[in-house]
Amino acid sequence: MAPETLVLPADDPRVAESLALGWRVIAESWGARLTVTDDVLRRLAERLEVARRAGYSVDELRPDASSMESVWHLQQATRGDFPVTPATPAPEQTLPQLSDSWRTGWRVFGARHRGQLVGTTIARPAPDVDVAYAETEWTAVLAEHRGRGLATALKAASVLALAADGVRVFGTGGASTNTASLAMNAAAGYTVTERWVSLQRAAS
Ligand SMILES: CC(C)(COP(=O)(O)OP(=O)(O)OC[C@H]1O[C@@H](n2cnc3c(N)ncnc32)[C@H](O)[C@@H]1OP(=O)(O)O)[C@@H](O)C(=O)NCCC(=O)NCCS
Repeated sequence: MAPETLVLPADDPRVAESLALGWRVIAESWGARLTVTDDVLRRLAERLEVARRAGYSVDELRPDASSMESVWHLQQATRGDFPVTPATPAPEQTLPQLSDSWRTGWRVFGARHRGQLVGTTIARPAPDVDVAYAETEWTAVLAEHRGRGLATALKAASVLALAADGVRVFGTGGASTNTASLAMNAAAGYTVTERWVSLQRAAS
């Protein structure tokens, strides 16, 4: 039988209670927020410009069949690099699911190098939560293009575009072992606001 899993805020009293009952922590994760200010937007515009000067085009993608296929292929090429925890699954949409999410509200941004899509970030506006709030679905850059500021530039493009549409707070999260993701979000101006633990108990 599969072990039972619980995901709780790190400061929830149930964490200590669960540990006393024999559960163990198997992973940690975090949530982060960015609040739009003029200063944030100015710095993000600079990060976007750096990537463009380095020869990348970084823009919002249109939901046409060719872009949908490219983004799905990028998801497939990078999904093994996402550190997975019970709270932070790797992206696993099929192409039809991705296309459907995109047509019904996702905002997708891409970085291209010599015409090839080499990085993507997806923002999900959350009008059900707050019209001025959006959350990152996932961000990935092909391994050979990492460490050049592309993920930060992609996040910058998404924040600038959505802020222009009235979004004021952006949320994201990831596994605590994902140092690259933490660094990327810090570089884009996010601050970690919450920590979570995943607990497991062996099935008896
Ligand atoms: C996370 C990821 C998108 C970062 O892409 P990237 O284009 O290399 O990131 P950037 O070049 O914009 O780097 C942003 C910051 O993170 C730092 N950074 C990048 N990779 C790092 C690593 N492996 N360890 C520590 N810091 C790292 C950079 O130095 C930079 O900081 P700086 O601006 O202060 O110098 C990329 O590693 C990736 O695709 N990983 C697999 C998918 C994933 O885990 N996505 C995140 C969860 S949604």
